[in-house]
Amino acid sequence: MHNILIINCSPRPGSNSGKVTKYLQALISAKGHTVTVKSFEGLEIRSIGAGYIQPEEVTPEQQDILDVLAAVKHVIWVIPEYNRGVPAEFLSFTHHFGTKKYPFIWNDKVHSVVGVSSGIGGREPIFHFAKAFNYLISDVNGVNCYVSAYSLQSINTQDNLDESGNFIGDQRYADNAAKFVDRFLGITTHV
Ligand SMILES: Cc1cc2nc3c(=O)[nH]c(=O)nc-3n(C[C@H](O)[C@H](O)[C@H](O)COP(=O)(O)O)c2cc1C
Repeated sequence: MHNILIINCSPRPGSNSGKVTKYLQALISAKGHTVTVKSFEGLEIRSIGAGYIQPEEVTPEQQDILDVLAAVKHVIWVIPEYNRGVPAEFLSFTHHFGTKKYPFIWNDKVHSVVGVSSGIGGREPIFHFAKAFNYLISDVNGVNCYVSAYSLQSINTQDNLDESGNFIGDQRYADNAAKFVDRFLGITTHV
């Protein structure tokens, strides 16, 4: 059994990404794994224009996420699509912490992604994530670190999940999510 981290990367309270996070947490917990959840809700990460965040400058809220990243081997990033891209907070997080000063984000780890939309979007976060994380792993010389090929696109999210992350919608949505979870858990043995 594994300890899986799910990070809700929406900065918005009551977000659809938060619903997806709760849904995946329930699906994975039901299979006997431990799930830790973290969120970017309200997370402040300064502009890279103010300089890279040095380890001694990390805020308690940022440290909370870094600590749990250091402790797990399997991470699912749940990222909303904003303007055919990703939220500024997620971009800033990767800019600041995608350096050799934070090797524990990369070493001995598998990262996977879920793209979230209220409509039929959600692909752009998946594309961006694969590109950015593969680049960062290479750039920081990450050891035994991988971006999972298995991703999930959460479309029409509010029609498929209620506020508590319970499934209420199209069976194809649930089938896709179940397939994603099974495939992701299937590769957890490799790291
Ligand atoms: C600033 C902003 C830009 C957005 N741009 C897009 C977009 O380009 N494509 C899309 O499918 N949804 C877009 N949306 C809608 C989000 O997909 C929707 O809010 C969804 O619920 C996921 O975001 P959330 O997890 O923050 O709720 C945007 C939402 C915001 C707040």
